[in-house]
Amino acid sequence: MTQATQGYYNAEASAVSGEEISFSFGANWKRFLDGFNDQVLADACQSFSGFSHFQRLDEHDFLDLGCGSGLSSLVAVTLGARRVVSIDIDPHSLECARYLRSKCGIDESRWEIRPGSVLDPALLESLGRFSYCYSWGVLHHTGSMWPAIANVVQYNTADRGYFHLALYNKHRTSERWLRIKRLCNRSPRFWFPLIRNLFIAGLFGKMLLRGRSPRRYLRDYKSHRGMDFYRDIDDWVGGLPYEYCTPDETVDDLADRGFALLRLRTTTSCGCNEFLFQRQ
Ligand SMILES: C[S@@+](CC[C@H](N)C(=O)[O-])C[C@H]1O[C@@H](n2cnc3c(N)ncnc32)[C@H](O)[C@@H]1O
Repeated sequence: MTQATQGYYNAEASAVSGEEISFSFGANWKRFLDGFNDQVLADACQSFSGFSHFQRLDEHDFLDLGCGSGLSSLVAVTLGARRVVSIDIDPHSLECARYLRSKCGIDESRWEIRPGSVLDPALLESLGRFSYCYSWGVLHHTGSMWPAIANVVQYNTADRGYFHLALYNKHRTSERWLRIKRLCNRSPRFWFPLIRNLFIAGLFGKMLLRGRSPRRYLRDYKSHRGMDFYRDIDDWVGGLPYEYCTPDETVDDLADRGFALLRLRTTTSCGCNEFLFQRQ
């Protein structure tokens, strides 16, 4: 696939989120897709099924809000979802998802890819209701995390439908991360790779001091979501807007909206907590 420019910024997302500078996740996803192969897809399917306990999605319509590379949408198609719709605010992300769809020879009637924001109620309403709404690592990057959650619940989740989401954990380092992300995005562009590489060196150095193997960490990381550490790291150091919350805050918010928690994977770091809810 053609390389994205080194433009890490997404002006459209800034206009929607109100964040002075919004990180372009899609530009990063383009580099991730260069390494796409059957094993990446198999890992992603395994990771999805491992958490959700859904081995197949034949009975489901699947809405992927903030599809990024499109890999999770492709997982849904692979697991037999009747219809998959992906939206994203970043043109680069949409290009990635379309690339995956055409590379895998999937018909547009089975997998629809549309530009749009999860903060746009008119768009969400026009998409209709889905039995499986999925938004992994997205809503905390909108600049309006709780309204975004409310939108998906109000417009897209069917009766008895599932809502699968992952949100950044509130952690003692969260405020520091916000400062790092702002520094990365507001500094001259050559700073970005520098800060990123310093961060990787620090992380691996700390692991070695504690007797842990960075190589093993990288291998385990891959097997967790079928994702790549070196791609995700760009999101970590650059991903703005950035919000976070505790697992309890999410569970309470969705309980108030009539959702029961089915599965939960928490983290003790500032990474993502993952939830699967069902509308009661
Ligand atoms: C960290 S990526 C996650 C991508 C994908 N869900 C995954 O799990 O790999 C966040 C994605 O959310 C998208 N995004 C950010 N704000 C959005 C909004 N308001 N509406 C729709 N997508 C948005 C970004 O463009 C980006 O592709």
